[in-house]
Amino acid sequence: MLNGKRILLIVAGGIAAFKSLELIRRLRERGASVRCVVTENGARFVTPLSLQALSEDRVYSDMFSLTDESEMGHIQLSRDADLLVVAPATANLLARMAGGLADDLAATVLLATDKPVLVAPAMNVRMWTHAATMANVETLKRRGIHFIGPNEGAMACNEHGPGRMSEPEEIADAIERLLSPAQPLAGRRAVVTSGPTREAIDPVRYISNHSSGKQGHAIASALAALGAEVTLVSGPVSLADPPGVRAVHVESADQMLAACLAAGTLDIAVCAAAVADWKAAHQANAKIKKKPGAAPPALELTPNPDILATLSKPGPNRPTLVIGFAAETEDLVANAIEKRKRKGCDWILANDVSPETGTFGGERNTVHLVTASGVEDWPTLGKSEVALRLADRVVRFFGGPTRAEAAE
Ligand code: C5P
Repeated sequence: MLNGKRILLIVAGGIAAFKSLELIRRLRERGASVRCVVTENGARFVTPLSLQALSEDRVYSDMFSLTDESEMGHIQLSRDADLLVVAPATANLLARMAGGLADDLAATVLLATDKPVLVAPAMNVRMWTHAATMANVETLKRRGIHFIGPNEGAMACNEHGPGRMSEPEEIADAIERLLSPAQPLAGRRAVVTSGPTREAIDPVRYISNHSSGKQGHAIASALAALGAEVTLVSGPVSLADPPGVRAVHVESADQMLAACLAAGTLDIAVCAAAVADWKAAHQANAKIKKKPGAAPPALELTPNPDILATLSKPGPNRPTLVIGFAAETEDLVANAIEKRKRKGCDWILANDVSPETGTFGGERNTVHLVTASGVEDWPTLGKSEVALRLADRVVRFFGGPTRAEAAE
């Protein structure tokens, strides 16, 4: 039930807008109140009068309407709800959301909100599968936006495929799940390492690698969304700290290890960082000078601590479940099986990081989950989907229901 919940429904311009009227009815039947924002194009498909009649509230559409602004500013509109639902969400609105535009009331409200957002896309199959839309969806998912659908089927444009907006009943169920989320990892403490490390040679130079931190950050987010108390220990990345996690920013492997050990007693450790294997044996205190005619300086390296192996050491403080990554360019699975044993961790997620896979810095990842009981090959997925699947596996490991089971 949705008793007392306040939903702000944003209706964009698509033929599926007619289903939004049914959605309002379903939500109100379940006890929610619904207030609508309709885009200019949305109003061509469904009249504000119908939205108003069904929601029994006024409908907002104009950024610069004096009455709208004096009665309720767009900031307040965006915050005065428990959840924002965009149904239907067009390719154009998704692009505007991903780009952070605020060029009409709907986009402004979505940019200004601090509330969860659920998006139900509806568009032509080619528009949905276009690389630009896929990239926007991945960006939005990484920012924590929730998606439902689109479903596959016959479309108004006489094509067939994914693009149909989910049915009002399905959207209402998803809203109920979001507003009373299952927290199967509540009370579990996790540390996740992410990003590269940066090993100083002197005050201006360093050794590092191309890790973007996208996969590690997505895992921290996914565990936190299931109720875990997550410390994200991140090397230098250009990503924002995901909501709901405690982020510790470090540079070197030594700092990363210290931050992990300082995180206290843990149930789960996920080492997704691309830790530099070596650091400079001697860090110069001043910039090493280039001397005309002199030979280049020799750089002596020394190994970094192995954070994954350290956390995996048997003992009373060992996290119950330690998960490592194996980034390989050849003999992926065989190396990962060997690495799991050598490092002493419980699971390894093996991923191919050959340059042609685009894994490093890219949005997608093809992984194999290596555990004591065997190897599972996962399909190529967005990094946030890999994170959700892994989080589900973690829930199952601790004996709880997965997302799919909880939804049944
Ligand atoms: O040995 P290799 O670098 O291939 O192992 C990869 C796994 O070990 C990853 O999970 C990575 O986060 C972790 N690792 C670590 N500390 C290191 C090297 C790797 O935690 N010094």
